[in-house]
Amino acid sequence: MCGIVGYVGRPGAPGAAAEGGPAVVLEGLRRLEYRGYDSAGIAVVTGDGVAVRKRAGKLANLVELLDADPLPDTGTAIGHTRWATHGGPTDANAHPHVDAAGRVAVIHNGIVENFAALRAELTEAGVEFTSETDTEVVAHLLGAQYRLTPDLTEAMRAVCARLEGAFTLLAVHADAPGTIVGARRNSPLVVGLGEGANYLGSDVAAFIAHTREALELGQDQVVTITPDEVRVVGFDGTPAQGRRFHVDWDASAAEKGGFPSFMAKEIHDQPQAIADTLLGRTDAAGRLQLDEMKITEAELRSIDKIVVIACGTAAYAGQVAKYAIEHWCRIPVEVELAHEFRYRDPVVSERTLVVAISQSGETMDTIMAVRHAREQGAKVLAICNTNGSTIPRESDAALYTHAGPEIAVASTKAFLAQITACYLLGLYLAQLRGNKFADEVAEVLAQLHEVPGQVRQVLDGLEQVREIARSMADTRSVLFLGRHVGYPVAMEGALKLKELAYIHAEGFAAGELKHGPIALVEPGQPVFVVVPSPRGRDSLHAKVVSNIQEVRARGARTLVIAEQGDTDVEPYADVVIRVPRTSTLLSPLLAVVPLQVFACELATAKGLDVDQPRNLAKSVTVE
Ligand code: AGP
Repeated sequence: MCGIVGYVGRPGAPGAAAEGGPAVVLEGLRRLEYRGYDSAGIAVVTGDGVAVRKRAGKLANLVELLDADPLPDTGTAIGHTRWATHGGPTDANAHPHVDAAGRVAVIHNGIVENFAALRAELTEAGVEFTSETDTEVVAHLLGAQYRLTPDLTEAMRAVCARLEGAFTLLAVHADAPGTIVGARRNSPLVVGLGEGANYLGSDVAAFIAHTREALELGQDQVVTITPDEVRVVGFDGTPAQGRRFHVDWDASAAEKGGFPSFMAKEIHDQPQAIADTLLGRTDAAGRLQLDEMKITEAELRSIDKIVVIACGTAAYAGQVAKYAIEHWCRIPVEVELAHEFRYRDPVVSERTLVVAISQSGETMDTIMAVRHAREQGAKVLAICNTNGSTIPRESDAALYTHAGPEIAVASTKAFLAQITACYLLGLYLAQLRGNKFADEVAEVLAQLHEVPGQVRQVLDGLEQVREIARSMADTRSVLFLGRHVGYPVAMEGALKLKELAYIHAEGFAAGELKHGPIALVEPGQPVFVVVPSPRGRDSLHAKVVSNIQEVRARGARTLVIAEQGDTDVEPYADVVIRVPRTSTLLSPLLAVVPLQVFACELATAKGLDVDQPRNLAKSVTVE
């Protein structure tokens, strides 16, 4: 999830910015700072070409570069803050990228799924690449297309027809000062409408300081802006309009996409986080391919044990992975809290695959566990959301989640992306080791591709959960029960409530209840129960229904999460929260969402800061 800003202004026009293109774009990038970044850059069109300044690291590094080596104050500029997907956070990989002739500059948000094939074609044609990014491929394609069709809009249309995946693109050409061309597919792009000036941004925060009149672009559209004109066409060349709207958010709300908090925004970003994590994972034949998997197929075939190491929410993602990978691959999977793994004397060998799950990639407990595992000779795969961070850097291979920067301290979208990545790993191993045929892998992948839409369905139907949360603002204790993959969901639901609402909450394996915890149940005690599908292992479902009866018989208030159509739970549930049907192993991606919303809403009702809860840090970089 990168930050994108574009500006074209006619000097002296009423709506033109006095400070010129680079300054306007830099200000827009500052407003997009919350989107996270590991590098940033700006390009302008000058009288004799395209000029670019870009630098890895914080925005301040780019500012320092611009102070030392300023860009001319032209009226045409584009700027970018990068959240790395393909290629680490380096000066060379920072955007904008230019074509070989240095005549076209491009910035990009998203993932070009077929970039490897396009890169190979260009390399074959003699193009020399200066970065590892998918974006540079687009710059070269645009430069070549423009030489055939010297019209930037037409060149963009022709190039977009060759791209697969999710992308927002902005491009400028040395021959076309005063013009920016943008394109979008499965990734946001909005136009800011001014007088004698127009803007482009990945969201309205990019230009809200200059105009509140905006135009939202639709799927597969190309927009061309000059200081006095905005023209929209479809990828097929058909004229289009875009949806005009007035921005009534303040700047702070704009950064959160209109949501009251980053936590709320990121919960609602989850469908996109799952979809983006699934992007670009299959080859033309539909077989799973994991680009960053630098552990050889022979080594992966030889592993006889998997140990997942992680902390907190990431560890619960690992617990979900255990059920899926053991079922699909028949390899024993242990899940260890990283800080425990490091100090016990774990049994690992060259045939152990250690999977380190981390959103930040900087959790010291997990870093130390990775080092310990490698000293024991194990291969380490990092599942991480932060490209270029310490944990993937110190691992043998990486499988990146593409949840975008997670600003709220309590993890939500990264959690669902981690689970998604774990499923991809399990399916990849099953495909590689022959545990599953290609059609079986494809079947599960097809179910996975339905999940973003199902999560959106859950999110659209949670007013009931919000009302319950508000009514429970004075609650002092909540229990969470789950069985099988529902057990880590119960643990995560409890953690969210602890983190956000500072309420004592405990998650249990439902089968464990009768071995002691049921003593906690007294009349009125709220108990969430995550119920597996009745279409799965029926013994599992029946046992959880009897667990609901057990606590209900002791006066508990039962709040039951169950799939649509499961009527068995109704006689024992005070509240039934419905989620769409999916397979048992994929159900955590749906079942956890009501628990996230419950915790967020209850904490909000208590007037607490859901983005920065007390005592917590986004990345625990000490042991
Ligand atoms: C999640 O809500 C917590 N903020 C915390 O448990 C977190 O998951 C844990 O500290 C691990 O962080 P990491 O994923 O960045 O390694």
